[in-house]
Formats: sequence, C-alpha cells, structure tokens
Amino acid sequence: MLSRQAGGLICRNRLVIDVRTCRIIYNHSSTSVKAHAEGNAATSTSSPFQYTLSKEPKTLYDHPELYEMAFSYRDIKKEVSFLRDVYSKHSEGSLLQNVLELGCGPALHSSGLARTPGISRVVALDINDEMLKYAQWRYEQAGGKISLPKPKKGFAPPALSSPLSLVQGDMSTFDLKGKGSFDMIMCWLGTFSHLLENDQASQCFQRVAEHLRPGGLLILELAHPGDLFDGTYIIGDGGKEVWEVPLGETRKLLVEWGAEFDNFDPVTQILHRTVSVNILNGDSVELGMEEVVMQRQYTVQEIKFLAQGNGLQLLELYGETDLGVDLSHEEAYRMIAVLKKPS
Ligand SMILES: C[S@@+](CC[C@H](N)C(=O)[O-])C[C@H]1O[C@@H](n2cnc3c(N)ncnc32)[C@H](O)[C@@H]1O
Repeated sequence: MLSRQAGGLICRNRLVIDVRTCRIIYNHSSTSVKAHAEGNAATSTSSPFQYTLSKEPKTLYDHPELYEMAFSYRDIKKEVSFLRDVYSKHSEGSLLQNVLELGCGPALHSSGLARTPGISRVVALDINDEMLKYAQWRYEQAGGKISLPKPKKGFAPPALSSPLSLVQGDMSTFDLKGKGSFDMIMCWLGTFSHLLENDQASQCFQRVAEHLRPGGLLILELAHPGDLFDGTYIIGDGGKEVWEVPLGETRKLLVEWGAEFDNFDPVTQILHRTVSVNILNGDSVELGMEEVVMQRQYTVQEIKFLAQGNGLQLLELYGETDLGVDLSHEEAYRMIAVLKKPS
C-alpha cells in the first residue's frame, strides 16, 4: 500500500468501522478498561461507560469510548480549524452558521464547531444510539450546555436551546428540520464508505443536496485514491497498519487495522478488513476483539458522478487538513473532497 505517513502519525487507511462479524478472542478478567486509560480525551474524567469484559462487544461502535481511544491519534482541533478555513475559502464570504455532521460518532468535530462564536446550530447525526449518548456525555463534560429530555424510548435529542443537537438517523435517508438551510455538511473518517451500494450513496448525496442552502458545502473525508489503485488491496498486505495508545504505565491499547489475507472484491470495490483491538497489560491481554470491517472504496470519478447526478459540484480535493496540501502533495495521505450546491 501507499503508506504515506503524515508527520509519522497516521496511515491513510484508518477509516471505517462497519462490523459484520465480531467475536471476543480473550476474556480473562472483568477489569474496567476506562479506569486505566490516561492521557486521553475520552478518559480524562469519570465516565458512565464501563468497558468491562463482562459486556460482550457487538461492534466497536457500541463501545464509543474504546472507539475514541483507538482513533485518538487525530488532531481534532486542527481538523475543526481546517473546516472553518475551507468554508471561508469556498463560500464566497458568507458566514458559517448552520452545520450538519453525518455519521458523527462521538461528535468531536460538531462539538468543536458548536463552541465556535457565530455558529448558531450544529446537528450531529448517527445511526448508533450508544455513539449519540456518548457524544452527549462528552459534550457536557467539556462544558457544553445540553439538557437531555427523558427519552420515552431510545435516544432523545438534546433540547434545541443548545447549538448542538444530536439526532439518530441514517445518512442515506435523513430528513431534518431546516432542510435547505445548512451552510456546511461534513462526513469524517471514511464514514461515507459505510454506504456499500450505489443506491445508498446516491440517496445520501440527494439528501445532502436537499439539506444544503444554495452555495453550501459538503466536506467528505475518504481514503486517498492512491490506496485503491496501488495494488495493495489485491497483491499487497491489504494496507495493514498497527498502532498503540498508551493507557497508563503498564497498559496500552493495540489496534491492528487490516490483515495480510483481507479480501478486496474488485467488482464491488468492497474491502473486507480485519480489525483487532486489544487491551494489553504488560504481556497479558485483558480484552481483545476482532471484527471484519466492510469498506466500499469510492473513486474520485464516482464521487464526481454522484455529485453531478444529485445537484452538487466537486470543487476541490485536499490530501490533508491543510489548504496547501493537494492530493499529489508528499504529505497527502487521505482525501478531503469539497463539494458545492451551486447558488
Ligand atoms: C468511522 S466512524 C466516524 C465517526 C466520526 N465521524 C469521527 O470522525 O470520529 C463512523 C460512524 O458512522 C456511523 N454510521 C455508520 N453507518 C451509518 C449510517 N448509515 N447513517 C448514519 N451513521 C452511520 C457509525 O455509527 C459511526 O459512529
């Protein structure tokens, strides 16, 4: 694979988690993982989420705190600042006020924008109840004001007096209040690759076009297109990447993203990626899970085609959260597509 490292930190393939199968491979104690995590935003304060081994994980998304720890290598502040920069550059002087995030997970980008002066409304949408509850808790811990009405059934979004509003929904079928008024819609960390079928992808673009105001932007973060075409998925090691997150003096989280025999189907463009996440204490494993992640790899031409068919226009492709880094830049390791709904 093209394993271009950005500042020695990140690989281009740490993207989507869509779990079709998941099994516990170790189950040795009932120690709470969160109790041992240090130096991580997700665990810097006491959490209602207890990732004990007695709770059998179905997907990593059902364990948002573990998910956030695994992906804590990201510089969210820089990404939020890039969002503001990219909006100013491509929005012809209009102010950023209304934002929607699709597949928000812990909603770190949405939370960052919700605290930005001038931004009056941020809606963060996710299909997963656990992620939304965690996003709620994270935002409140960081000083955000959200009051959660008691849900009758399932997740209830926070009161709308807060700039941040959390909504449960599917990114290919959502239908929100304020349709046609969003200045920017964003979708981070390859979340769009969860949409495996053409119809779903097209419906998502259609929903986006309906919800954006004329002149509004869609920001889509996906794998760098080089990942698909350099042969890694078919003849290489599937782009295997391994990284660690320290959880105190003796513990660490070990993430293995990809395995040598992962299958990539060149017809459907779906990569079946093996992901394992282990909590290690010294040499012993306290918690381990392994799952198969399905990622539809989209080409730039497909993104362009989806845009054209749904009233959007591809404006720019960045290779990092930096306006000076395009896809061919040596620091490019991902793709951030900027699309516009014409005025
Ligand atoms: C890779 S995570 C990204 C989370 C977040 N954007 C981030 O940057 O950390 C993908 C998220 O998309 C959500 N998701 C998956 N399929 C979805 C769908 N069809 N509609 C809405 N959310 C979805 C998952 O629950 C998960 O929280």
